[in-house]
Amino acid sequence: MAISTAHGPRKRSSPPDRGPDMKPISAVVLVGGFGTRHRPVTYAVPKQLVPLAGQPMLFHAMDLLPTAVSRITLACGYKAEAFETYLRLHPYRVPVTVVKEEKPLGTGGGLKNGARDVTDPFALVNGDVISGLDMDPMLEFHREHGGLGTMSFYEVEDPSPYGVAVWSEDQRIVRFVEKPPKESAPSRWINAGASIWSPSVLSAIEGGREVSLEREIIPALLSKGIYGFPFRSWWEDAGTPARLLNAQRLLFDHPRTGRFAPTGKLTGARIIPPVATGKGCEAEGATVGRYVTLGEGVRLGKGAVVGDAVLMDRVEVGAGAEVRRSILGPGYHVPAGAKVLDQCLANEGPSK
Ligand code: GTP
Repeated sequence: MAISTAHGPRKRSSPPDRGPDMKPISAVVLVGGFGTRHRPVTYAVPKQLVPLAGQPMLFHAMDLLPTAVSRITLACGYKAEAFETYLRLHPYRVPVTVVKEEKPLGTGGGLKNGARDVTDPFALVNGDVISGLDMDPMLEFHREHGGLGTMSFYEVEDPSPYGVAVWSEDQRIVRFVEKPPKESAPSRWINAGASIWSPSVLSAIEGGREVSLEREIIPALLSKGIYGFPFRSWWEDAGTPARLLNAQRLLFDHPRTGRFAPTGKLTGARIIPPVATGKGCEAEGATVGRYVTLGEGVRLGKGAVVGDAVLMDRVEVGAGAEVRRSILGPGYHVPAGAKVLDQCLANEGPSK
């Protein structure tokens, strides 16, 4: 889906002056999960291909990578073919190779399987992390401090659903606990899902079996020197439908990319920006916004109202219907006059 955004073009920071410290590096992006919390939409498309603020979550996650990244490996499992097809039709700014897992290998196993021919160092991001993190200074920090890796951390009120770290004065992590109970969490700094590693981390991961980077590998390797890189701008993990919509609001409010041309036309509609519109949408007499992404060929009937939502390709909303705080999968049909509030809906169910 090629979508345009009402925010207009943003250029990524000026082209890197590739001095000795800016030599190109590779990156691995993990997208192999099932996205169970976004079902049934993820029965139709993998979570990372859901469009947010005019482009797939995947491209927002890849936009986080350091400017020095010159090639990316996508570590895929579930619906790997959907990524291949999407990237063939919508190439990213650097070459992306899709590597598939025959069975889910977890974050550690997925990294091991995907990290073929990586540079020293290489970058790693989860494909569902949406953030204002700048990985360029993080890469610089890693190069200065050495060690096995540098992980980014963001401070939250309740760290219990995440990996939590404590570091010493020199930022060396001394403790890392995955999903601790809230009352015993050792800090409120959580793993933000973007890191830089020396390839030697790979030798600690056993190949061919499911391995959790967060539960097994990171805690076991702290003595080798893993550093914490805290940041305070903004962050969201898009792991649940509500968080995904919050991620979209953050992305609209902090536009980072100008990959798509200014907004597509929604002739005859009342637009409340920000709105990102795909090609071939019709919305005569409808109200669209704020914080809405429409895929390609979306049709909204007269008097329909859509706000704080993602409507994927070919969604139809009947006359007078209302859709708010919801994610609708490709081709989903909302009958005239219906109210769809706080929903994640799709035509697809589990494959038989
Ligand atoms: P839920 O099923 O809703 O928990 O979502 P998820 O499957 O995406 O899991 P989670 O959010 O914990 O995963 C974090 C990141 O790691 C996401 O980008 C996932 O796609 C990715 N990931 C999770 N498991 C695997 C795996 O087995 N292999 C690979 N390559 N990536 C994975």
